[in-house]
Amino acid sequence: MQRQLTLFEDDVQATPAIKVSRSGTFVDNMALPVHRWFRYSAGFAAEWVDQVLTEWGIGRQHLVLDPFVGSGTLSVVCDTRGTPSLGVEAHPLVARVCKSKLLWKTPPQRLDAFAGKILVQSGKQRSQTAGYPPLIERSYDADALTSLDAMKRAWLASQDESPASELVWLALTAILRPTSKAGTAQWQYILPNKAKKRVLAPHPAFRQQIEMMKSDLRWMQARAGRSLAEIIAGDARTLADKTPREVDAVITSPPYANNYDYADALRFEMTFWGDVNGWGDIHDAVRKYLIVSSSQHSSRERLRLADLLESDAVTPIHAELTQVVERLAEVRKDHGGKKHYHTMVAAYCRDISLVLQQLRRVCKPGSRMCWVVGDSAPYGVHCPIEKWIAELALAAGFETYRFEKLRDRNTKWKNRKHRVPLQEGLLWIQG
Ligand SMILES: C[S@@+](CC[C@H](N)C(=O)[O-])C[C@H]1O[C@@H](n2cnc3c(N)ncnc32)[C@H](O)[C@@H]1O
Repeated sequence: MQRQLTLFEDDVQATPAIKVSRSGTFVDNMALPVHRWFRYSAGFAAEWVDQVLTEWGIGRQHLVLDPFVGSGTLSVVCDTRGTPSLGVEAHPLVARVCKSKLLWKTPPQRLDAFAGKILVQSGKQRSQTAGYPPLIERSYDADALTSLDAMKRAWLASQDESPASELVWLALTAILRPTSKAGTAQWQYILPNKAKKRVLAPHPAFRQQIEMMKSDLRWMQARAGRSLAEIIAGDARTLADKTPREVDAVITSPPYANNYDYADALRFEMTFWGDVNGWGDIHDAVRKYLIVSSSQHSSRERLRLADLLESDAVTPIHAELTQVVERLAEVRKDHGGKKHYHTMVAAYCRDISLVLQQLRRVCKPGSRMCWVVGDSAPYGVHCPIEKWIAELALAAGFETYRFEKLRDRNTKWKNRKHRVPLQEGLLWIQG
């Protein structure tokens, strides 16, 4: 058996159709039923996932896994195909969004009735907007916050954990940004100091969201009988014991080692619902459950480089990883921010390796995986993440891999912090 296919191969013979259409992001999903219920910038394109499953011949008899399922793109695609799926997501609010999207079997009239009740009850609520944290106060006009607070109180008073109740929670969560006057940076960081032009009023936005969801419920129910998706709100690094049966295929997009803080992505929504009061709460509420991909994470946990490099999980890439992270530890001394990129990168590799080991335990022999991956260069030090993930996959017991580059990154932005060319692509793993 050939152990390794060519790495960084640019001409793709095996999957030309997939390559051509793999230019999508979650924005493409905003035109698709159910996917569009919540905008999660980190998501990948549903149509691409569908194509990969078709090319692989995945059908109703198979089980497909996404260990970083996010808002459930893979789960919804599998439901539309009648394919059983399993998703793991460690961010509690993201996992709840994902689970809510899978309640598409709910009769539209139940959703309508629950939403109607919330609108009526909200008219009777005495809203109390004074106690909101500054992030929320600064992000809304007084009238908008009063309406949203009244709807939130009405929901809290009526919630009964029924599917309709969860769908209305999702609808309220989904309109928080369109009804806010604050701008949103790339990747969903909220910017209260930056006003945006188009702001929707809460009641019309809520009605519109509910109408869209009702129409999608009908669409989905005309195509599929029931959801075959299971979601584990937990940690991909320990998924094997919670996986009900062997897996045939994996499609996933893990966090990249690029300092994007997934824990912070939905801080706005969590603050509105009272799950956190501010940035300081995010680590204990969310970040500590995620794989390490930001320097806030590794510094907050006071991770030690020596411990990380001693971990068995990174042994297969030890020499090259040590060289890179020691360079990062050196370069950091010349930077004011003194970011903990050295421990971030080492911990990221350890965590990804642990996930790959878990995947080997649950994947059938000969199964296929596709990872959407990108490299990174914190402080301008290049980290060949896609190559390391591939090597860790082989060490975990998978047999072959091939990297298919899709696009260059870090070539356009004027304000980019370094000039190291980066790339993003698909890592096809089999075995
Ligand atoms: C790139 S996003 C995946 C988005 C997904 N493909 C979608 O379409 O919504 C990566 C996800 O991994 C999650 N994550 C991070 N650490 C995790 C862990 N230890 N276990 C499971 N999920 C984790 C993050 O919260 C994030 O939602």
